[in-house]
Amino acid sequence: MPLFDTDTDVMTDARLDLLTTGPGAGHGLTEALLPPVDELPVVASRPEEAGRRVRDELLLDGNAQLNLATFTTTWMEPQARQLMAETAQKNLADRAEYRRITAMEERCVRMLARLWHAPHPEQVRGCATTGSSEAALLGGLALKRRWQARRRAKGQDTGRPNIVMGANVQVCWKKFANYFDVEPRYVPMQPGRYHLTDHALTAYCDDRTIGVVAVLGSTFDGSYEPVADICLALDGYRAATGTDIPVHVDGASGALVAPFLDPGLLWDFQLDRIASINTSGHKYGHVFPGLGWALWRDAAALPDDLVFEVDYLGGRSPSFTLNFSRPAAHVVAQYYTFLRYGHEGLRDLALRCRATARALAARIEDLAPYQLITDGSQLPAFAFRLTPGTTGFTVFDVSELMRARGWQLPAYAFPAPCQDIRVLRVVVRAGFTTELARLFLADLTQVTQYLRTRGADAVPSLPEPSAAT
Ligand SMILES: Cc1ncc(COP(=O)(O)O)c(C=O)c1O
Repeated sequence: MPLFDTDTDVMTDARLDLLTTGPGAGHGLTEALLPPVDELPVVASRPEEAGRRVRDELLLDGNAQLNLATFTTTWMEPQARQLMAETAQKNLADRAEYRRITAMEERCVRMLARLWHAPHPEQVRGCATTGSSEAALLGGLALKRRWQARRRAKGQDTGRPNIVMGANVQVCWKKFANYFDVEPRYVPMQPGRYHLTDHALTAYCDDRTIGVVAVLGSTFDGSYEPVADICLALDGYRAATGTDIPVHVDGASGALVAPFLDPGLLWDFQLDRIASINTSGHKYGHVFPGLGWALWRDAAALPDDLVFEVDYLGGRSPSFTLNFSRPAAHVVAQYYTFLRYGHEGLRDLALRCRATARALAARIEDLAPYQLITDGSQLPAFAFRLTPGTTGFTVFDVSELMRARGWQLPAYAFPAPCQDIRVLRVVVRAGFTTELARLFLADLTQVTQYLRTRGADAVPSLPEPSAAT
């Protein structure tokens, strides 16, 4: 019986049987090494076979738990995974059909509004998004519309406005400025100051500034920007010029860390100047990617002309997201996570992450030739560099060799004028146990020792695999 159709070169059922159930199932059939597929196959294959081909290829991807690069959740309880699997077919846009999920989304918004000390939680407007990026785009857009409305009301032009932020902002803010035609004004880093502060901030502001973005905690090194001081500087600017500039807090990670670990810190809706806040449910909200949240203090902070009433799917419901269809499972999982852990449990998870980050940072500080930029005492994340004057290898070599040990430890340069500062960054998330931290430290110690004696020449330089490989 032929194993391949002679016209199409596609496997026949006989061959499929051999592959999926025969003694060679998936291995040993070297004469038939299957090519990668980048063209739609002509005929169907069996689910077991297609599943195995996909799964086999995925084996070569990194192990999510050893990925110290990402802030996004890589560990969830089996009960939460189960709930996500049970609701995977549900569409968040289909609000008339899934009214309970809509109610859960609204309850999560209320919980966050209270957690972030909104003076009138019932007036807060908010929604689930695909992540902090979508939430940031919406937050920026609301600032732009409010600025335009204010200018129009005064008979002033509404030509290209600007937005002020630290050079350390995440790329979503660069996208916002680019996609929505707003001039990005970056307050540069300085040696020793790697995020936005009140220092020199108002020199970048004028009457075309739609808002200032304050980041709680910086993607580059996990540090919190001093949100209260930033607001104070803008209070002074208003007193001096009459121009009132609202603030959006990008709390992608920190807005679900600071409320539990730094209750005395002023950064949220307690500050009148804060118009809106975003966070990533898929970071320290402990939900798999992608889920974010965007909240506005009240209706005045979210102009009505950004909200669409949609009735295509039966019933009417407000929509103010960039996407339409998107998974509802993440909202279900967030509601579960909030119910399951509560304030106490979320505090406990964050506390453990911070304790691990601080302990690891302290050990790395003792390990020559490293120098800490941050120490894990704000976000449970920290950045460290090679002590200036270190020769023979770079942080990129360390990253490469750690990857060979299975760890993803990103290395990158800070933005100009601090581009000479090249760091490695560790993000500690739930699931990064003290046992893993110990193994990581042992590998980092060995890799560093190896590089100190052998130098960068010992680091193999391989090309990245291409899609067609
Ligand atoms: C400060 C900050 N803002 C925004 C984002 C983008 O978030 P998301 O990946 O949820 O879209 C990140 C991601 O790391 C971040 O650190």
